[in-house]
Amino acid sequence: MSNDTLSADFLWGGAVAGHQIEGAWNEDGKGPSVIDVLTGGAHNVPRRITKDIEADEYYPNQVASDFYHRYEEDVELLAGMGLKCFRTSIQWSRIFPRGDEDEPNEAGLEFYDHLFDKLNAHGIQPVVTLSHFELPLHLARHYGGFRNRKVVDHFLRFAKVCFQRYHTKVRYWLTFNEINNQMDTRNPLFLWTNSGVTLQPEDDDREVLLQVAHNELIASALAVKAGHDIDPDLKIGAMISFVAIYPYSCNPADIMAADQALHERFLFPDVQIRGHWPNYALKEIDRKGYDIGFQEGDDHILAEGTVDFLGFSYYMSTTVKANPETILEKEEVFNGGLPSSVDNPHLKATDWGWTIDPIGLRHSLITLSERYDLPLFIVENGYGSYDSLSKDGTVHDEDRIDYLRHHIEQMKLAVLEDGVDLMGYTPWGIIDLVSFTTGEMRKRYGMIHVDRNDDGSGTLARTPKKSYYWYRDVIRSHGAKL
Ligand code: BG6
Repeated sequence: MSNDTLSADFLWGGAVAGHQIEGAWNEDGKGPSVIDVLTGGAHNVPRRITKDIEADEYYPNQVASDFYHRYEEDVELLAGMGLKCFRTSIQWSRIFPRGDEDEPNEAGLEFYDHLFDKLNAHGIQPVVTLSHFELPLHLARHYGGFRNRKVVDHFLRFAKVCFQRYHTKVRYWLTFNEINNQMDTRNPLFLWTNSGVTLQPEDDDREVLLQVAHNELIASALAVKAGHDIDPDLKIGAMISFVAIYPYSCNPADIMAADQALHERFLFPDVQIRGHWPNYALKEIDRKGYDIGFQEGDDHILAEGTVDFLGFSYYMSTTVKANPETILEKEEVFNGGLPSSVDNPHLKATDWGWTIDPIGLRHSLITLSERYDLPLFIVENGYGSYDSLSKDGTVHDEDRIDYLRHHIEQMKLAVLEDGVDLMGYTPWGIIDLVSFTTGEMRKRYGMIHVDRNDDGSGTLARTPKKSYYWYRDVIRSHGAKL
């Protein structure tokens, strides 16, 4: 390894999620999921959650990028880039259409068999999330999602079926995608998609959030233990959204505001990595007199189900102030904004208001590495922007290349100079897909363009962008050629 390259076993890859790319929302026995009732939205126009699937509504994830029918062509394209790994998720509602059946849906299992076989045939390791903002709609509507402890049993059954079926094909797993981002109730989308939960007027929101958190942490721990029992070689990780948090100034009150905001980021991985609830959360529960549904034996479950690594997404940073003059609008939750967030004058932002902060990635890697002393995996990072095919038939996405180059530079510094133990890097949305927060196609992240528009038109044809060839050279040179 030269001074400027990452090791040969570094997992260069790309990431997607089942519901954002597959489409085929009701094929081969798949049931409706919490995602299938999300309408399209736009920047600052929230997606709506409809009661059921309504005939005159447009649901962008129902077709998405049609990966379900085109995965063979897509994997060939990914192989052409030299990817070492590919992160995707198994849609729970393909395997258990309602979520509470005793037996899985064989056709759903077969789809992922074919996908993982195809990836492995090209030497691309699948990295698989069990629940990426997706659970069967029936579990949300009839059980109340993860506020109901019975859903933990259904999740565990789903997890065991997946580990048993695929453990020879998939070594790297994540339990819940961005498990921590549901704690902000200013926008109901996260709690709905992470956990199938909607808050009721009579709820104490914070107490419900902590109950949901506990149930999901138990579900994650039980799944990790089950996976290790089935195959001790499996590497099963947690996955959090990490938006770096900066104090606005050296005023100690701002520093404390940042420290306290960080607790919200750390709560889930603190439990998933250390195997018990952290003191700051226990103090809050005690102070407020909450009942979070802690049962006898739960401490044992949490202690036995700790993860092997920490995966995280990194897109941006946010800056907090002890007494902000302005309170951000609720849509800005999506821009990494906290109630105490203020503009950072040193950073520019994307067209969707996400700050661009490559040094924040190095800062995050150091913070997480020193807090947990566990291997890390950057399983999402990327630049959502408007792209268009030019007359020469390609997309000249120089801005995306710049964004990724600067982030990879900082990632390399973290590994090569700060000694962070980093397993890999999977840029988000490597094939264009439906944006999670807005439901748009036009917020594109891909290195492979998909011809589909927000009115549902388009041929779905695939075209490599300029970034495709750039990233291929990055991988070939082990990160030296940026
Ligand atoms: C992460 C999610 O929050 O960010 C992905 O894990 C999501 O599902 C990604 O797509 C980017 O967000 P968006 O809203 O731009 O698609």
